[in-house]
Amino acid sequence: MQAIVLVGGEGTRLRPLTYSVPKPMVPLLGRPFMEHVLLRLRDAGINEVVLPACYLPEAIQRHFGDGEKLGLRLHYVIEEEPLGTAGALKNVERFITGPFFVFNGDVLTSLDLGAMLEQHRNSGGIGTLHLIPVEDPTAFGCVEREADGRITRFVEKPKPHEVTTNYINAGTYLLEREVLDRIPAGRNVSIERETFPQLIAGARALYAYATEDYWIDIGKPENYLKANLDTLRGTMPLRTPGPSQEAAVKQPCFVGINARVDRQAEVGPGVVLGRGCRVAAHARIYESVLWDGVVVEEGASIEGAIIAGDVRVGANARVERGAVVGHGQRIAAGTVVPPNARVPMPA
Ligand code: GDD
Ligand code: MG
Repeated sequence: MQAIVLVGGEGTRLRPLTYSVPKPMVPLLGRPFMEHVLLRLRDAGINEVVLPACYLPEAIQRHFGDGEKLGLRLHYVIEEEPLGTAGALKNVERFITGPFFVFNGDVLTSLDLGAMLEQHRNSGGIGTLHLIPVEDPTAFGCVEREADGRITRFVEKPKPHEVTTNYINAGTYLLEREVLDRIPAGRNVSIERETFPQLIAGARALYAYATEDYWIDIGKPENYLKANLDTLRGTMPLRTPGPSQEAAVKQPCFVGINARVDRQAEVGPGVVLGRGCRVAAHARIYESVLWDGVVVEEGASIEGAIIAGDVRVGANARVERGAVVGHGQRIAAGTVVPPNARVPMPA
């Protein structure tokens, strides 16, 4: 079985985190997010994955190479200009030999791919889309369907008054190869706004596969933080290293290799510390994600925040809920980074 994982987006909503790394490489419990995605595919029996990339593709290639270490065959296809979610598929059609999975590269879910494949085979449709119910569909694509599962309508990023269902496109598709024939080549094409609406109008139906699995799109900071906390707490089942033995942390926490926490610091519950982090005495960290090499000086506090690599949080500084601090920033001693702040401000 083959899969295409879309990894070309700019990750605009995750800035300033995505100034230094592309969205698929942001860490989840000590590994690039995409590594968890790829392991899940491999475990489901997918052995060949095509990666249409565009923004900072070298970071992805450097880490995963040809995929051998993960037991996968990986092919990278770099877009000069973003081709959109369908244009990116058309651009890699030479690799695809039969029905194939497509994954949005920023989705974490417990969806059973084998069960979805079985439904697809039984339906005889041109494609099957995973749907998930969410409270607020306005950030996603609403998908309407008949009782037999046939999809009848798409509304991408609906305005509140346009919402007619809380079932959304969950970003996993199983498509017949002929779908690629319907996508025009050489220009930007959106699968959500152009290709899916066209397919619905065609002879072979597009089917929904609705589940109530764990599901999250990590494309916004609050969701990325939530994905980390849910994985720590086990809400999202993921094969992860066991709890750390670090004396000074309150579980659940994930403490990366060579991270050091002073005995008089208060860390956790709900904290991810990247490799080589240093947390000094009387510092307090709660429900936060710190990437590699972050230094937290004496008496500093961090709550509900995301701190990118090599940041220094000065003595007695305070980073408040929802704040996101970009790579290498210095938070001066005693400073307060207010709730939901972005440091530096995205341009
Ligand atoms: N190669 C390539 N080229 N990849 C792209 C491009 C492109 O031009 N544009 C976006 N992508 C990738 C992103 O990297 C991401 O993995 C995926 O396509 C989806 O793009 P997002 O920018 O994250 O879209 P979204 O989250 O706003 O909406 C999409 O996902 C929702 C579910 O999470 C849509 O598919 C919605 O309908 C859906 O509900
Ligand atoms: Mg997304």
